[in-house]
Amino acid sequence: MTQVGEAEPDIFNPALPATARWPEESEYHCEAEGSIVEFRKLDQTELARVAEIDRRERINVLYEQHGTQLVARHGNWSASAWDPEGHGGYSVEAKVHELQHYVDNGGVALGALAGGRLVGIGVVVPHLRPRIAQLAFLHVSAPWRATGIGGRLSEQLEQIARTAGDSDMVVSATPSENTVRFYLGRGFQPMADPLAELFELEPEDVHMRKKL
Ligand SMILES: CC(C)(COP(=O)(O)OP(=O)(O)OC[C@H]1O[C@@H](n2cnc3c(N)ncnc32)[C@H](O)[C@@H]1OP(=O)(O)O)[C@@H](O)C(=O)NCCC(=O)NCCS
Repeated sequence: MTQVGEAEPDIFNPALPATARWPEESEYHCEAEGSIVEFRKLDQTELARVAEIDRRERINVLYEQHGTQLVARHGNWSASAWDPEGHGGYSVEAKVHELQHYVDNGGVALGALAGGRLVGIGVVVPHLRPRIAQLAFLHVSAPWRATGIGGRLSEQLEQIARTAGDSDMVVSATPSENTVRFYLGRGFQPMADPLAELFELEPEDVHMRKKL
């Protein structure tokens, strides 16, 4: 039986059509044209590689959550790159600290690597509460978005949570249009009653839940 933290590494080519993107075989390799992306578990020493992720995003719509209703607000909320030197909330230092905290609390970090570079990272914390896992972190580097990497990472994080015995997954999602659409498309729904411990940390996020 696969234990928590033993997700199978696998490889896919984001340029392939959808039907070819989601192989059942974990030993799937693709030698076709385009970039090869490898998915594997990251160990503690690799968490600092989050610095390789290009966080920049143009954001024109943010959602406000009112119970299960989402209300769009238009404006310019674009996200800049991680601060490589500073100590603020969007610094590399703060992100490494956050990732370390999740892993110290039983979280599992997965990476997507292309050409020796980290292009995606996701973390699941099983058993945040009984039978409930948290999708705690998910970022895909700007040039690689909308190619299937985030979907692939979240699918593998969900599988880790299921294997650990969880029946639900929650996420405190960045309230941007693209991110909310991503989670809605993967079966997450806004929660009328967010988990208090997550709401307290991120009251402006969209708090969502999915049955595993
Ligand atoms: C949200 C995120 C992780 C999704 O990863 P991804 O690799 O871009 O997503 P996928 O390619 O697997 O899925 C694409 C879907 O996500 C949504 N999406 C997210 N970002 C998008 C973008 N920049 N352009 C187009 N669609 C985007 C769309 O709904 C799209 O669905 P569609 O293919 O049916 O149109 C990624 O866009 C990201 O890192 N965003 C910035 C950081 C962030 O907000 N992370 C979430 C924190 S909770």
